[in-house]
Amino acid sequence: MRIVRDALELRDAVREARASGKTVGFVPTMGALHEGHFSLVRQARAETGFVVVSIFVNPLQFAPGEDLARYPRKESEDAAALEREGVDVVYLPDPAAIYPPGFSTAVEVSDVTEGGEGAARPGHFRGVATVVAKLFLQVSPDVAFFGRKDLQQVAVVRRMIRDLDFPIRLVVGETVREPDGLALSSRNAYLSPEERRIAAALPRALFAARDAAVRGERNAALLAGRVRRELEAENIGVEYVDVVDPDTMKPVREAVSGTALAAAVRVGKTRLIDNVSVP
Ligand code: PAJ
Repeated sequence: MRIVRDALELRDAVREARASGKTVGFVPTMGALHEGHFSLVRQARAETGFVVVSIFVNPLQFAPGEDLARYPRKESEDAAALEREGVDVVYLPDPAAIYPPGFSTAVEVSDVTEGGEGAARPGHFRGVATVVAKLFLQVSPDVAFFGRKDLQQVAVVRRMIRDLDFPIRLVVGETVREPDGLALSSRNAYLSPEERRIAAALPRALFAARDAAVRGERNAALLAGRVRRELEAENIGVEYVDVVDPDTMKPVREAVSGTALAAAVRVGKTRLIDNVSVP
């Protein structure tokens, strides 16, 4: 496994792999890696011949007052784990390799960013789309792997790939969960043991509503209300509960197969998001 910090060195490594007939897979991350990330890496290993994983805590997608400064950073642990996973290149760019002095360009995806995380975190998806576009150009993968855990991020990246003609196939990996249902997230490290216990109410409420939809309760407002009540009963602060089409991220009135139930909550000071889809 090679650790690369320089964009030109990265380009050479990828060019060499492609010249030897390998397809290139790419898993972008912000590090503090967990089984959710590793499941994407394993899919990349299964579907492509050369796997690049980037680790870059992207300042542009954090608003002032968010957790940029305390976001967990575990570079050497992450690199060792990726080596065990059989990754070919770990790309650890210096901030200046992504944002040179005077950086003044942004990628703004509208429409799919109107609600949900886009509304709750102004500027967040502009930061995500900008860094993902930049990483796509630096890595130039054939296939990119993203997790469904970040449902709206998937919609943003899919729309950007289509609108800007990135020659990249998007593969979406299923959400990896703890035994009690909590979706793995680097931010779970912020939870105290008591908060960690309470946090399981988020997936529990979403899965209960999904089951209600399967049993025939299709009214989106009723499903969202059910999730909200269950969370509030646990004293969890609800930011939003949305019932949306996962491609457009627009609210639907009636849940159908593929409809997503998505929520953002606060457990103590920690912000958690999750979503499930109606089978
Ligand atoms: P990060 O939060 O590190 O997540 C990297 C990738 O792992 C994303 O595609 C995310 O959806 C996926 N992931 C996170 N938790 C998961 C879980 N429990 N199961 C399956 N996949 C999971 O998302 C980002 O970083 C950044 O926004 C990034 C795309 C790297 C741009 O900075």
